Amino acid sequence: MSDENRVMEFLERVVADNAAAFAGVSTSLGVRLGLYRAMSGAGALTSEGLAEKTGLVERYVREWLAAQVAGAYVLHDPKTNTYVLPDEHAAVLADDSLPTYVGGGFTMLKPLYSAEEALASAYRNGGGVNWEDYGPELAQGVAAFFKPGYEAVLVQEWLPAMEGVEAKLRQGASVADVGCGFGHSTVLMAKAFPHSRFHGFDFHEPSVEAARKLAEEAGVGDRVTFEVAAAHDFPGDAYDLVTFFDCLHDLGDPGAALRRAEKSLADDGSLLVVEPNASAEPGENIDPIGRSFASTSAVLCLPAAMAQGGPHALGNHPGQDALKAIAAEVGLRSWRLAVETVTNRIYDVKR
Ligand SMILES: C[S@@+](CC[C@H](N)C(=O)[O-])C[C@H]1O[C@@H](n2cnc3c(N)ncnc32)[C@H](O)[C@@H]1O
Repeated sequence: MSDENRVMEFLERVVADNAAAFAGVSTSLGVRLGLYRAMSGAGALTSEGLAEKTGLVERYVREWLAAQVAGAYVLHDPKTNTYVLPDEHAAVLADDSLPTYVGGGFTMLKPLYSAEEALASAYRNGGGVNWEDYGPELAQGVAAFFKPGYEAVLVQEWLPAMEGVEAKLRQGASVADVGCGFGHSTVLMAKAFPHSRFHGFDFHEPSVEAARKLAEEAGVGDRVTFEVAAAHDFPGDAYDLVTFFDCLHDLGDPGAALRRAEKSLADDGSLLVVEPNASAEPGENIDPIGRSFASTSAVLCLPAAMAQGGPHALGNHPGQDALKAIAAEVGLRSWRLAVETVTNRIYDVKR
């Protein structure tokens, strides 16, 4: 017999989750259409004022605002019929240069929800869903999701935590950024270390094109190249540093990628491997970050790796021991946790 109070408690929680899932589309629209940006620092606005600022249709803007008020993202003053996005909320939803910004993650929802049919087939027949089959918004959304975190800590904390790497980068090192996506990590490193050379590789051509554009816009085109290449056979050798940012677990064959990375390293080169800070033990991921990782793994990381047909489809929470064992198999026997944040674990890996 189930306990009625516990049923009601759980019902309340799931109803709240369902409401948040419905609201996610509006949040994504707010990010895509620049509604939060337009409200940021603007004080009290009417729906007409916000529609004018964004070039959108007032009737829709009013309905969107009502949804925002219902979620307490936006405050409404019934006396003046105006709406405010508090500065503290703008820091989370409007300004993508802040480490507190999480708007990018919402733009991943459309490609993930749209893949439900393909995912259902994969769950039935054991196939996968190709990275590119999620549609172009996925790569864009993933890049937007990771960017604020990298901006806040990659150069400031992660690279200094790697043994001997920062000094080499300052003097002039050669770096391969494997599975670089839109290249935010590559460009951040290139901006910080002008004497070094950076080579970004990804098998997804639209991402590589976006990365090239980003490098030009950032004024680092002289020291950065981006090429379409699979992780198991990216070109170049004698790299001082090979990086895998949030992608090793996405590869169908992470062992082949690590083998290629090991072969491409200079004598005392190292690998920087950035992975989600999630546990291989399901019961240890019961918090919003753990839940985000476990949930994206079930509908993106695992199926995308399965689509590559490799010997390992790890999911994004395989745990340090599984990754370490695959690295050791290809001669990368030194594996050290360099630093961790609430979202990521950063490993310093060597021969
Ligand atoms: C979760 S995204 C991370 C992208 C980027 N490193 C970042 O941190 O924003 C995973 C990336 O791995 C790339 N990828 C997946 N399988 C690959 C493979 N076999 N070879 C090269 N790139 C691959 C995808 O195209 C995607 O850009």
